[in-house]
Amino acid sequence: MKPIPYGRQNITDSDIQAVAEALKSDFLTQGPRIAAFENQFARYVGAKYAVAVSNGTAALHLGAMALGVSKGDKVITTPITFAASANCVRYCDGEVIFADIDKDNYCIDLNLVEAILEKQKDVKGIIPVDFAGYPVNLEDMRVLADKYGCWIMEDACHSPGAWFTGSKGDKQLCGNGKLAELSVFSFHPVKHIATGEGGMVTTNDKALYDKLCLYRSHGITRDPSLLVENHGGWYYEMQELGYNYRITDMQCALGSSQLMRADEGLLRRNEIADTYNKAFASVDGIVRPLVADKVFHAYHLYIIQVKDRLGLYNFLRSKNIFAQVHYIPLNLMPYYKSLGSKKGDCPVAETFYEHCLSIPLFPSLSNDEQSYVIEAVKEFVQE
Ligand SMILES: Cc1ncc(COP(=O)(O)O)c(C=O)c1O
Repeated sequence: MKPIPYGRQNITDSDIQAVAEALKSDFLTQGPRIAAFENQFARYVGAKYAVAVSNGTAALHLGAMALGVSKGDKVITTPITFAASANCVRYCDGEVIFADIDKDNYCIDLNLVEAILEKQKDVKGIIPVDFAGYPVNLEDMRVLADKYGCWIMEDACHSPGAWFTGSKGDKQLCGNGKLAELSVFSFHPVKHIATGEGGMVTTNDKALYDKLCLYRSHGITRDPSLLVENHGGWYYEMQELGYNYRITDMQCALGSSQLMRADEGLLRRNEIADTYNKAFASVDGIVRPLVADKVFHAYHLYIIQVKDRLGLYNFLRSKNIFAQVHYIPLNLMPYYKSLGSKKGDCPVAETFYEHCLSIPLFPSLSNDEQSYVIEAVKEFVQE
């Protein structure tokens, strides 16, 4: 069997053609394919505005800036996420507070968030992560955020296309701008939509949208209605300190082409997850992910928990199956330890980390490859 990674991109001839057309066009960057991708993405998630940027980390950083995070501002996030979800707070000199995860869905535990908000009245915001593609119930989180005067920036890097059913029976798509001030996506190759590097912020708030656009490109504006002076057609002003977090037209051409197949990919991801769920249902010693009611999971990752995770990881590697661990809790990272976090801060996350393993899940995984993975996992666990 050829090597099977835990995730991989799916590039078709039409993707290649779309990028080739961008390469032959007048614009490699700052051209029309960027706005086209933004509009298409905003429609896909049901938000008013979308701002495409160079990667998901840049999207989080711009989001934190637009929300006004500054020195010492407290922001709550989960320890079970990629470092960028927390680092964006540090880029703005804010303070990260880790709230432990829910033992069933592995996302941030709302009860613990509430306990922190009750104790520390000066928390400014919450960054929930739709971990592995499971959509956090932002309706419940909104109630808390409003009660304690916080903003929400949803890290939806794992969950484009996922949704939960709201209390009125409404479908709440991740990133729709209705419950979080901002939502952030990544287009890294293992994600649902791949642009190589790439990211997006969605929002329904025009003022935040304007800030994101400004900060994305050095804080520079050419909009005549915003200029303090105007010396002529060449004139621009740098009105804030921003960055070059722009994305290119080639990448957006690929993103638009990929986005057209996003729903197809989601269905295939769900099908693969179902097959794993059924295959492992009767096997003692494998904890499967929660299949929740009223939730459409985006299954960025399929994570099992086993007693001997290192053993299984090495056994799978010997069979050319490259599983991965998502994630090492951020409160155990030397950097966050240097800021005061420590082992024992997030016991549920830390126990999860001891046992979790992400096994292959991506739309082009063949049925034969999946059967091979299932047999290998069973062989090890049932030994
Ligand atoms: C949950 C989460 N947040 C943020 C990021 C950062 O995205 P990027 O790699 O595009 O910078 C990632 C990507 O790995 C992620 O998984």
